[in-house]
Amino acid sequence: MNVDVRNPEEVKKMIDYTIEKHGRIDILIVNAGVVRVGPVETFPEEDYDLLIDVNLKGTHYTCKYAVPYFKKQKSGSIITLASVAAHIGQVAHANYCSTKAGVLGYTRALALDLAPYNVRVNSVSPGATDTPMLQSDVAKQARDRGISYEDVKKEFEQEGIMGRWATSEEIASGILFLATEESSYITGADLRIDGGWTTQ
Ligand SMILES: NC(=O)c1ccc[n+]([C@@H]2O[C@H](COP(=O)([O-])OP(=O)(O)OC[C@H]3O[C@@H](n4cnc5c(N)ncnc54)[C@H](O)[C@@H]3O)[C@@H](O)[C@H]2O)c1
Repeated sequence: MNVDVRNPEEVKKMIDYTIEKHGRIDILIVNAGVVRVGPVETFPEEDYDLLIDVNLKGTHYTCKYAVPYFKKQKSGSIITLASVAAHIGQVAHANYCSTKAGVLGYTRALALDLAPYNVRVNSVSPGATDTPMLQSDVAKQARDRGISYEDVKKEFEQEGIMGRWATSEEIASGILFLATEESSYITGADLRIDGGWTTQ
């Protein structure tokens, strides 16, 4: 089912359909996200609206319609996608950073609400991960700064102390850990999978 997380009715339909088909939701991964970068003084309003609508409100709608089922079944794990941008500043990322810091706060608070129902809520904060999102971010910065894609990529690679980007699989394995009983005593936490970026 294709769903626009900015649209609460569509999100509700997706959750209700899942319950209709499977009877329960054990794991909810709130992954949809967008990035827009640029200096704040010229940052387009429509770009900031998009960041807020997808990254923040989309996270809320996805949780909102699933939470009643989680409460009823008294088990489950919710994992949201924050970012290193929730923890540190990045050049030209003020608007994106604000939404990801919001995701972190949302996740912590929801963990408190759902702990009495035996439902765990955690976030994952990826560092630079080789996906279309990062590739488009790097391409835009290269255009804006008049330098090559490879030069911007090298800068990003040096930010983590491991000197390379993560693969999607390396992020997915952290999400999987939080989704299973392997992490049964972890809630309200944020797992940074950032190649050491935020330890510096
Ligand atoms: N790639 C990175 O370096 C990086 C770093 C930190 C955090 N993240 C976060 O990880 C998550 C996944 O990002 P990614 O790197 O795979 O990006 P991506 O652009 O490759 O994938 C993002 C996904 O979100 C979906 N999406 C976007 N807007 C949507 C909407 N309105 N409704 C429904 N789906 C929508 C897209 O269709 C796409 O499948 C995001 O929340 C992102 O902010 C990524």
